[in-house]
Amino acid sequence: MRYRFDDAFLDELRMKNDIETVAGEHVELRKRGHILTGLCPFHNEKTPSFTVYPDTQSFYCFGCGAGGEVITFTRKFYNLDFIEAVKLLAEKSGLALPAFTGDDGAANFRRLILEANRAAARFYHETLQTPAGQAQRDYLYKRGISDKMVITFGLGATPNKSWELYEHLRGHGYSNEVLVAANLIRKSVKNGKTSYYDQFRNKIIFPIIDVRGNVVAFGSRVIDNSKPKYINSSDTPVYKKTNEIYALNLAKNKNEGELILCEGYMDVIALHEAGFNNAVAGLGTALTSSQVGLISRYADRVTLCYDSDDAGKKATDKALLLFSETGVKTKVVNLPENTDPFDVIKKHGKERFRALLDLSANDIEYKLSLERQKYDVTTADGKVSFLKAAAAILALNAGAIERDVYASRLADELSVNKDAIIQQIKGINIKNERIKQKNAVRDAEKEKWKVYEAATGKNKTDMRIIKAEEILLANIILSPSFLTKLNDKLSNDLFFTPVYEKVFTAIAERIENNKPIDITYISENFEPSEMGVVSRLYMGGFPISNTLKECEDCIEVLTKEKGKKELGYKEVSQLSDDDFLDLFNNDKK
Ligand code: GTP
Ligand code: MN
Repeated sequence: MRYRFDDAFLDELRMKNDIETVAGEHVELRKRGHILTGLCPFHNEKTPSFTVYPDTQSFYCFGCGAGGEVITFTRKFYNLDFIEAVKLLAEKSGLALPAFTGDDGAANFRRLILEANRAAARFYHETLQTPAGQAQRDYLYKRGISDKMVITFGLGATPNKSWELYEHLRGHGYSNEVLVAANLIRKSVKNGKTSYYDQFRNKIIFPIIDVRGNVVAFGSRVIDNSKPKYINSSDTPVYKKTNEIYALNLAKNKNEGELILCEGYMDVIALHEAGFNNAVAGLGTALTSSQVGLISRYADRVTLCYDSDDAGKKATDKALLLFSETGVKTKVVNLPENTDPFDVIKKHGKERFRALLDLSANDIEYKLSLERQKYDVTTADGKVSFLKAAAAILALNAGAIERDVYASRLADELSVNKDAIIQQIKGINIKNERIKQKNAVRDAEKEKWKVYEAATGKNKTDMRIIKAEEILLANIILSPSFLTKLNDKLSNDLFFTPVYEKVFTAIAERIENNKPIDITYISENFEPSEMGVVSRLYMGGFPISNTLKECEDCIEVLTKEKGKKELGYKEVSQLSDDDFLDLFNNDKK
């Protein structure tokens, strides 16, 4: 196993960054006896399943299965590799980083990609100022984008040549491998000949910069009416488009807890130009829960400002649903039919947009207004249908006070009895809440199982094996002396599940060298996605009797299963009679 930091350093790091404090900076934690709980920062939830264990300096979420210690928390929260997370924690607590040996290939590669991206962004930006970028410059000016925004957003241009960037970056020493992985350059193999060419040609370039200031990817737009209008980087080792938000790097410090979320690059730039510098956008895909999670770290209020076409309305619905799972309060801007923020500002000026912002409705008002448009409320039928739909909206989205307020308003508006509306809401409520709760429990279970399955690579049919591995490891973690006592029966070969084999190897190595086996000391060898199941082993939450006998039973199960698998991975039903009997004879041997 690999360890780049010694125990003494990790001890100090852990002491100066205890998990309660570090997690507490991002999660509102409540003390409950020995433990603390709060809303999980790694999935959207309304009731707290995120649990912090000060005793073992670990965390575990019963909702999504995420878990680990303080370095893993930091890795997951900021999407960092191990070294980056250690550096961040060390810097925060004024600890000097000891020299560490060895290098991390993957982290290095990522760093090179980020460097190449930065060099590319600079190249594109400079090209925009040269004659080769004339057409792009003209286009931007025509659309009313000033030099100030060109600089703020680092906009760029690519010339209409095939390998300008390629030659530039190769000249700066970047390898083909890095440039292709960065999605800056494409590789083509034709008739046995390999060639390389630029990914973006004759385009306006929008660098995509994450909240840490890294250039992670690029968006690009044509400067005529050709299709496709936009071409964006695909996912790379440093970029996942469903995890990033455009312009959040600029907006995060200027938002006073409030963001305007719109659809496209041009909307964001037009809004910033008009002084709304808290505007951000997704990256051309439907909003995801991880983007909503990211936004919720920087905002407690979001104004949705999607295009007012059908696609935009659907996107608004989805966004409202995603945000309703978080504590973020939402409002919706009602743009004139078939326009986007860019159009409104261009045609009517920023004052009009400001007015629309001020008029923006909260999510309940927005939903009610959409329903209201569907019915003719001057007729009795229309009134009844609208009220039923409205009651359903209030049942699902409104708290007790809001229900009362809106019921009063609706009663006035439509001259009906308020109590009748309240009754109607109550009727729906009970049914809906039941279904909702059931779904929530089922979804959480599914989500947790997915994490578990991804980490262990097993499915439910292998549960017996997994349980035996888990109980055995949990026993050894609680009583390391068991390992020495069972030494002749134990080996890493016994394990089926790679992550558990890794846990065994890591703790066995340490126990044999008389070293403590706290979770912090071994975390370097695990991916954050694996740490959930590892921290479960440390939590003491397993129903174990913590006896040698129990360990021996687990070893026996695993040995027997190994025997079965060695027969050729056959299902029991496919075994010959003799083989089948052999399985039982193992017991007596
Ligand atoms: P303009 O038309 O220049 O005003 O841009 P816009 O931002 O208003 O574009 P639109 O509303 O059509 O699209 C919103 C966002 O969806 C864009 O900013 C892109 O991120 C994405 N998008 C639009 N068209 C395409 C496309 O053809 N391909 C891809 N990959 N993304 C697109
Ligand atoms: Mn648009």
